Amino acid sequence: MPDDFRYKNSMKLFREASHFLPGGSNSSPRLWRGVCPSNMPCAIFAEKAKGAYIWDVDGNKYIDYRLGFGPVLLGHSHPAVRKAVHRAEKRGQIFALNNELEITVAKKIISMIPCAEKVRFANSGTEATMATVRVARGYTKKDKIVKFAGHYHGTNDYLLFSTEPPFGWPTSRPLASSLGIPHLLKDLIIIEEWNNFQSIEQTLRKHHKEIAAIICEPVMGNATVIPPAAGYLRHLRELCDRYDVLLIFDEVKTGFRLAPGGAQQYFKVTPDLAAFAKSLGNGYPIAAIAGQAHFMDIIGAKKVYHGGTYSSNPISLTAASATLDILRKGDVYEKIGSYGSRMIQGIAKLFRDYKIPGLVQGFPGMFQFLFIDHDVKTYNDLKDADMQQFATLHTHLLQHGVMLDEDNEEPIFISASHSNNDLHHTLEAIAHGFSQMNLKRR
Ligand SMILES: Cc1ncc(COP(=O)(O)O)c(C=O)c1O
Repeated sequence: MPDDFRYKNSMKLFREASHFLPGGSNSSPRLWRGVCPSNMPCAIFAEKAKGAYIWDVDGNKYIDYRLGFGPVLLGHSHPAVRKAVHRAEKRGQIFALNNELEITVAKKIISMIPCAEKVRFANSGTEATMATVRVARGYTKKDKIVKFAGHYHGTNDYLLFSTEPPFGWPTSRPLASSLGIPHLLKDLIIIEEWNNFQSIEQTLRKHHKEIAAIICEPVMGNATVIPPAAGYLRHLRELCDRYDVLLIFDEVKTGFRLAPGGAQQYFKVTPDLAAFAKSLGNGYPIAAIAGQAHFMDIIGAKKVYHGGTYSSNPISLTAASATLDILRKGDVYEKIGSYGSRMIQGIAKLFRDYKIPGLVQGFPGMFQFLFIDHDVKTYNDLKDADMQQFATLHTHLLQHGVMLDEDNEEPIFISASHSNNDLHHTLEAIAHGFSQMNLKRR
């Protein structure tokens, strides 16, 4: 490795980490090939993050578009959130007793989220989606859950199926996304194709007596941001009403990001239950399950079990409370809307100017671009996207101080801290990448 190698300190730490952490990391999606001299998966180590920027241990500074995989809506280390947390921290970190903040934050969520009449707190998106599914099963006394190919709902065994199946894999065959998931669980999951109106209708018609819920990411945020087709969420809503099946929105990525009331407000379709995490705490670990009271009230003593040592701890609740205050009062959505729209338009223009077949899709707070020459409506449509080219551009952008994720399927996230200069710099870096890369031209 040359002495001036950009990621020298990171690589040194990664080699050390590999002795003590399986795979050298605590989360496999953090491993990238492009930064490693031997093109093996390895990790950049972070030093600090503030506002729209993140620094690595080699002193490289980046405009951050990963934002911790989505949570950092206001900007890293937001002063108002940090101050509130530091004040709260002096009063204690965990009580295992009720505290008034639970009511305060629940009320704030209820004032923002259309489906929320009651709320329960958890710590991660995985816990929240797992709880929504248990509530649905407990309420309906049915066992099967419908999910969509390419949708990701966290690491719990019940839902970790067909999150990233090989393209062309038959949708009707649930594919466990990890070793260690009991084979028996695949009988409890039905996989559907996103945006396919007929197939889900047929499935509900035939199997509704066994189906407790449909769970979906209302915008496919783990497969390059594929929006729902016009009327698709309403179609799901109507089918669920017709067949006594619960509709669950996994708003872990979309919640508080697409709009103050999440995707359900944006698309004007109210689910029965929803799971939130990420942007709720602007980086502090907190999650919530929200839903209509008659579903949520199934949670409780001798009914559906839900709880946890760290659930509703005062530190995370304080972060959520401060974050929601800013979201309810501030101009966060205008800032993100303006920046994100201009970045989407800017990238689309670069595709045109450089005559590169490309697609930019999504919403100002959360979008992605693809090297592809057609629209993308379903997970399988992604098979024609040149994700290797995206990875090459990713490495180029890192060298120019812009951090996307190497995985093209992960969204670009925007925070309220990104500035006009950041936008200008980013579009210039992408243009430079397009001019240097050997890309297919129209
Ligand atoms: C849509 C969605 N649901 C659930 C999860 C799981 O959340 P967590 O990583 O907090 O467990 C994620 C994580 O990225 C997600 O994107």
